[in-house]
Amino acid sequence: MKLTTLALGSVVLFGAVATSQAADLAAGKAVWEKLNCASCHGADAVKSIDPSYPILAGQHADFLAQALRSYQRGASGAPASANVRKNAIMGAFAKQLSKQDIENVSAWLAAQPGPLAVRR
Ligand code: HEC
Repeated sequence: MKLTTLALGSVVLFGAVATSQAADLAAGKAVWEKLNCASCHGADAVKSIDPSYPILAGQHADFLAQALRSYQRGASGAPASANVRKNAIMGAFAKQLSKQDIENVSAWLAAQPGPLAVRR
């Protein structure tokens, strides 16, 4: 009886954690629109306003999220390293994102059609 309750409890707990971490594509799109990321990266996240600005559509979500966290670290004054990106523009935008915003916007961008591909 005790064991069953315990097992049930962990299933419920695990379910709750999994739900809160799952990326929400609609919320990701909302972050993209709210902060007007398109003003630089382009509405389709492909055709940016400057060729030196990276294409975001279709990049791996974990790579994008890692990049955004690295800009946050850079903006909060961490010295440059492999996990820290010093960029005034992106630092200012990344600073405004919550952890969940980063997961959501990265997942949404990864789901957009883009020209990036692994050539075989
Ligand atoms: C004012 C222009 C501007 C805006 C607005 C902007 N970005 Fe950027 N973004 C850049 C530039 C420039 C870079 C490249 C910076 C560098 O050299 O590290 C970049 C880089 C990135 C990268 C790294 C991609 C890679 O391949 O390394 C991500 C992810 C990103 N932006 C996401 C966003 C998101 C999400 C938003 C909205 C919250 C946003 N950007 C808003 C200009 C902008």
